[in-house]
Formats: sequence, structure tokens, C-alpha cells
Amino acid sequence: MILPGDSPESIAAAAERIRGGGLLGLPTETVYGLAANADNDRAVAHIFKAKGRPADHPLIVHVANASAVAHYALVVPEFAEQLIKVFWPGPLTLILPRRPGVANAAAGGNPTIGLRCPSHPVAQAVLKALLHDAVWGLAAPSANQFGRVSPTTAAHVQGEFGDELLILDGGACSVGIESTIIDCTRGRPVLLRPGAITPEQVQVICGLQVQSKEALETMASPAPKASGTLDSHYAPHATVRLMTAKELQKALTLLGSDAGQSDGRPSIALYCRTPLATVSRHVLYRRMPADAARAAQQLFAVLRECDAHGVKLIWIETPPETPEWDGVRDRLQRAAG
Ligand code: TXA
Ligand code: MG
Repeated sequence: MILPGDSPESIAAAAERIRGGGLLGLPTETVYGLAANADNDRAVAHIFKAKGRPADHPLIVHVANASAVAHYALVVPEFAEQLIKVFWPGPLTLILPRRPGVANAAAGGNPTIGLRCPSHPVAQAVLKALLHDAVWGLAAPSANQFGRVSPTTAAHVQGEFGDELLILDGGACSVGIESTIIDCTRGRPVLLRPGAITPEQVQVICGLQVQSKEALETMASPAPKASGTLDSHYAPHATVRLMTAKELQKALTLLGSDAGQSDGRPSIALYCRTPLATVSRHVLYRRMPADAARAAQQLFAVLRECDAHGVKLIWIETPPETPEWDGVRDRLQRAAG
């Protein structure tokens, strides 16, 4: 059932569902989450089951504000404090040492906890209502089946989990890709997942070089499993291929004017920034915005739309190699992986 996120009755119903140990489709500014009380291991177990997600893949815990951090985190390094001050509420998740015995299931048994304070007004309203009742946080992975494309509208969430799930409608997500994840447990910031907040921005605030996950993996202690960092993830049903504009044009020219049609329906979708000279009218064509933030905002909705048309192939123009495209490039590489 989808309820309007901007009504107090909906917020009350959602908070009630969470207090009763149930699940909730929750809008955030990044993507929609599938939420449960982070301190209720049984409720959290339902999330893993509904998503088909392995129980040792930790979930992010969403909090109303920085006051809830001490409930979950054992210590907060100074550089993490600085990041919280500047980027919360917003699309930044921090991995911190976990207080023993707290949010065990949400953390997937890891000695650390991922914390994020979302800025979306509907998420804020639910979290504040719950904090009032001493519910400290909501464990919420993206509200999609494991390995699939993250949802950026309430209808996407309903398509994943059906009408039984209570979903708050908060409109289309403004960021569109999942939060940047910074591991703060290793003495300096380590980037686990790129997102709207770039390593350069993090570096400017805390004055520390941000290390890459790849560099970390060559060190003694590898990072815990992070689903969003698996090679194949965010995958639509169609096969995704990344190509340069030149390669795209060449492939289309080779296929000719009947390209991309099967039984009168398009079998190829094209998502690119560069205008192409020949595009068969049978190809489903979507223009990628030239602005990285706008491209991120639409990305998952476009992939889902291609799937809805039943295309077999999605050909996508490789994003530029610049930092502001890191998040989009990362998701596309995994969608193609
Ligand atoms: O924007 C987002 O982050 C969205 C919205 C709903 O907040 N959530 C999201 O959750 O993307 P999920 O579960 O799909 O991805 C969370 C990522 C996973 O890759 C998970 O493994 C990682 O965060 N993660 C969570 N806790 C962690 C921890 N303690 N250590 C390392 N990675 C962690
Ligand atoms: Mg996810």
C-alpha cells in the first residue's frame, strides 16, 4: 500500500508499523529503503529474507540526527565528527566501530556499523517520530531484490515487494544513486562506495587523503562484504554494455535500419550523451544528461524503463573519466558486470 509521505497520518502509520516489528518502504534523497527498527533483530531478519540478501551483508542504519550516533558507535574519530557536521543530513554513510550488543543483525555480525542521516523530509519525519519513542534508528538497504536495480520511486518499491508492504511516497529521489560510503575505522577515510559526495569534498573537510578500497584490499585486513561493491550488482534483466560514442555509432551502422526490432518491439535500448548520426527508429533511445548529477538522478529509472520495454540489450555511452561521474560510472560498470 502506498501512502502519501507528506501527511501526518501516514507518518504515524509508518512509525506504528516499525514499532510493531514490521517493514516500511522509506523514501530517502538517494534511493528508497526497505526499513525496520535497527535494534530489533527479528524485524531486521525480515529485511534480509524479503530481499534475498545474505545475512552477513551489513545494512546501513539511518538516524534522525547526530544525537543517535553514540547509541550505535563505540567511538567517533575526529575526522568522522567533521564529516558529520558538514555532510549530515545528506548522502554520506560512515562506517564506525560498533557498540557491542547493539544492532547485531543489522551489522551482519560485523564489529562495525554503517550510519547515515538522510535529508529527505519524509525520512526525517519518520525518524524523528520514532526517536520520540526511543527507537534510535532504521536499518534500511535499498528496497530492491538482491543484486537488482535500486528503486527511486514508490512505484518501483511496490513493483519489488508487492502491495502488502507499506510504502511512503516521497516522490522521485533527488540524488538517484546510493550514498557515498566512507570507512572511518582505519585511522583515515577509506572510500568503500562512490556517490554524490566525492572523495575530494571529504578530503577538503577533514584534511586527510581519502584512500581507495582497492588500496585497502592489498593491506592485511580486507573490508567486510559490501553488496554495493560486488562486481555484478545494480543489474537490470537486459544485458548492459558500455561503449564509447564511436563504438555505439559503428555498431548501429553495422546493424542497419532494421536494427533492434524483434516482433515489432525494440530489442535494443540506447542511453547516450553524444548525439548519434544514425539511430534506427526501432531502437529505444534515451538521452543521457550531460550533467553528472542529473544523469545520476535518472539512472536507475532509465534502466528500469528499458527492462519494462523488454529490451534484450542496453547499450550505454561510457561516462567521462572525471570525479563527478565516479558514482554513475561505478553503478554502470557493475550493471554491466
Ligand atoms: O543511499 C543509501 O545508502 C541507501 C539508502 C536506502 O540509504 N541504502 C543502501 O543500502 O544503499 P544497501 O544495503 O543497498 O547498501 C549498503 C552498503 C552495502 O554495500 C553494505 O555492505 C555496506 O553499505 N555496509 C553497511 N554496513 C557496513 C559496515 N558495517 N561495513 C562495511 N560496509 C557496510
Ligand atoms: Mg542496495
